[in-house]
Amino acid sequence: MTTGTYNPAAATVLGLSLSSPVLVGSGLLTDQERNIRRLLSAGAGAVVTKTIHPSPPRSGDERLLRLPTGMLNSTTYSRRSVDDWCAMLRGFARDGLPVIASLHADTPAELAGLAGRVVAAGSRALELGISCLNEEGGLQDTPERVAAYTRAVRESVPVPFSVKLAAGEGVGERVAAAVAAGADAVTLSDTVPGLCVDAVTGEVRLGGSFGYSGPGIKPLVLAEIFALRRQGLEVAVLGSGGVQEAADVVEYLSVGADVVQVYTALHTTMHETFARIRDGFDGWLRGHGTTTSALVGRSVGR
Ligand SMILES: Cc1cc2nc3c(=O)[nH]c(=O)nc-3n(C[C@H](O)[C@H](O)[C@H](O)COP(=O)(O)O)c2cc1C
Repeated sequence: MTTGTYNPAAATVLGLSLSSPVLVGSGLLTDQERNIRRLLSAGAGAVVTKTIHPSPPRSGDERLLRLPTGMLNSTTYSRRSVDDWCAMLRGFARDGLPVIASLHADTPAELAGLAGRVVAAGSRALELGISCLNEEGGLQDTPERVAAYTRAVRESVPVPFSVKLAAGEGVGERVAAAVAAGADAVTLSDTVPGLCVDAVTGEVRLGGSFGYSGPGIKPLVLAEIFALRRQGLEVAVLGSGGVQEAADVVEYLSVGADVVQVYTALHTTMHETFARIRDGFDGWLRGHGTTTSALVGRSVGR
């Protein structure tokens, strides 16, 4: 939240005034109230919850595999009930905490209903986590699918929301579909399909293709945000992919992200890593005598 004194790092997204553009992205680590509160105390501009789903898969392995360039994960949605989440969200709202609720459901109508419930519980900003590719059968994302989910939520709730999409083929059309259907922002990127093979045995690790995240995807996501801004995309962008240090935050802002999410890096010493990136970014601004808003999009026109 904003403080009374001048803060060069201040940022605004989804109607929230934030003390820093460095946010915590959605994932296993944000499935717990204690982590969310501690990350906010450590200075996170905002925290995105693990994706809340009315009927998450009850079975299925949730596994992580570390790679030299990032991580593969086979996780899907929070297994906490919507009632539990609403109680937690009510507490965050009561305490005025910048928490963004991440939501998904099996159909657009169900997602609209879920959005209504979390907004009634006090959520002031949402992220539609509709692009998880770890669901059984994988994800065939299309502009029509993105539009249907986005439109349903737009017609259901008045609060600002971002639509989270995965980098890759047709991302421009999917972003355009989200914006045309009423999204206030887009989050780029969710994990992208990745696969790891055991070179000795030929075994496919984790048993298939799953979500790939971390530093290996950063150049791909930067390229897409850069291209979208060059093509005139006007809505807010929440950058996500491979942020490990303050310079990565600066790079994302420079290509036109308004704020940045950190996730995979936090699987190593979560609080220290977050504080290093967040405080490092503040130090970078001081050292260069600049502000978050001066950095946003500075590379795009060049
Ligand atoms: C273990 C794990 C769990 C994740 N769970 C979610 C999720 O529930 N919802 C979601 O929108 N993104 C989820 N993500 C994606 C991250 O929020 C992030 O968008 C992506 O990993 C790219 O950023 P990063 O390289 O900083 O991790 C998950 C990522 C990982 C590694």
